Amino acid sequence: MIKLQNEELKKEIRILGISGSLKNTSSNSALTRAIGGLMPRNVEYMVYGSLGELPHFSPDIDGDNSPAAVNDFRRLLKNADGVIVCTPEYAFNLPGVLKNALDWTVSTGEFYEKPTAVISASPLPSGGDKAHYSVMMTMTAMQATVTDKAKLMIPSINKKMQGDEIKDDDMRDKLIAVVNELLRVIAEKPGFKL
Ligand SMILES: Cc1cc2nc3c(=O)[nH]c(=O)nc-3n(C[C@H](O)[C@H](O)[C@H](O)COP(=O)(O)O)c2cc1C
Repeated sequence: MIKLQNEELKKEIRILGISGSLKNTSSNSALTRAIGGLMPRNVEYMVYGSLGELPHFSPDIDGDNSPAAVNDFRRLLKNADGVIVCTPEYAFNLPGVLKNALDWTVSTGEFYEKPTAVISASPLPSGGDKAHYSVMMTMTAMQATVTDKAKLMIPSINKKMQGDEIKDDDMRDKLIAVVNELLRVIAEKPGFKL
């Protein structure tokens, strides 16, 4: 099993996990929660749980009086040193609810140079590759920092999780590698003091 490499970092690191699925039994939400168990002790990991409460994005309701749910989402992102997005694929694209959430951050720039990991997971052999590319296009537009090693597409996810438990050693290793990469990028960010 791959080892976590960042235990020695003294500073508390905050990471926000976001699942692109609203389904109660979502494999991506289970994965997002399970990733918390792979974090070193100095990481404060939080899973965002209000994706479905964000209103439909419109510039008309953005600004000084933007909705409370949007302000909360933006604050959580701003306070996070890094973000992990886990998304399913719907009709060859990312779920609308996730795109909606990301659209709320374009004008305020919470993803600008934010160390971010992008994971897609699907029961199909493609691993949600098209949703992954779509999320990456949005991340590129927002100038998030997503390195190649912080990207993962997971096929056959239905066989690799049991509830919130990771059942596949290869997938666990790949997830740990993604976590290590995200922590490395965070630690190397200019201004990040250990
Ligand atoms: C409306 C709909 C469209 C879907 N389209 C795709 C697709 O294009 N590609 C894919 O890999 N899976 C597709 N799926 C299957 C999802 O990958 C599967 O339902 C998966 O479990 C969703 O992720 P979740 O468990 O995290 O909600 C689709 C499912 C639904 C309900």
